[in-house]
Amino acid sequence: MNIAIDGPAAAGKSTIAKRLAEILEFRYIDTGAMYRAVTLYALNNGFIKSSDSIIQSLDQIHISLTKEQPQRVLLNEVDVTDEIRSQQVTDNVSYVASIKQVRRFLVEQQQQFIKNGEVIMDGRDIGTTVIPNADVKFYMIAHPRTRALRRFEENKLRGIHQDINLLEQEIIDRDQKDISRKESPLQKANDAIEIDTSNMTIDEVVEQMLNIIQKFK
Ligand code: C5P
Repeated sequence: MNIAIDGPAAAGKSTIAKRLAEILEFRYIDTGAMYRAVTLYALNNGFIKSSDSIIQSLDQIHISLTKEQPQRVLLNEVDVTDEIRSQQVTDNVSYVASIKQVRRFLVEQQQQFIKNGEVIMDGRDIGTTVIPNADVKFYMIAHPRTRALRRFEENKLRGIHQDINLLEQEIIDRDQKDISRKESPLQKANDAIEIDTSNMTIDEVVEQMLNIIQKFK
């Protein structure tokens, strides 16, 4: 069984996906982390604005996601789990994710994970492109202000203080870029079940999704 979770930025996808993966004993795959790792590589090598250089460097980029929780993200064997969450990476990732060859490169790797067992994968194009035949597809949404507030609290715990209005605007801008790109844009799959988490706790969302998953088992 494979489960796809898509939705806009900071909708709670990864928090929920991790919980579900633990309960169901599935492998969790954070595809956003993979786009972030490519972005970090381009930033570190000074060619973030050149799609040609990014495309040419793809065969030098090796990304792995560790199986144990908390999951670590390795870029060419170096742990970049924290670095890929930096503001600079967040500001540039949607551009990198809009490059067709980058998407092909990562989607191929994401599809390999499915061959190796049961996965729960989150991202923007999982239900539409990566696992079009997923057993269950979810599309998680929440009001931009709610999403900004959640990200604000998350950041606070990590010692980062960011203006809430700026954070909300950034989330809206990133969604806009992800929705309007040509290559597999952020989109709800026709057969995805929409969950609006605006007024729900994490436990409530997990419970509702588990109930739905049971019906498909
Ligand atoms: O999920 P996260 O917010 O970390 O994703 C970062 C960015 O990576 C997104 O804003 C989007 O541009 C890109 N992404 C994507 N397709 C995915 C996952 C992420 O284009 N499947």
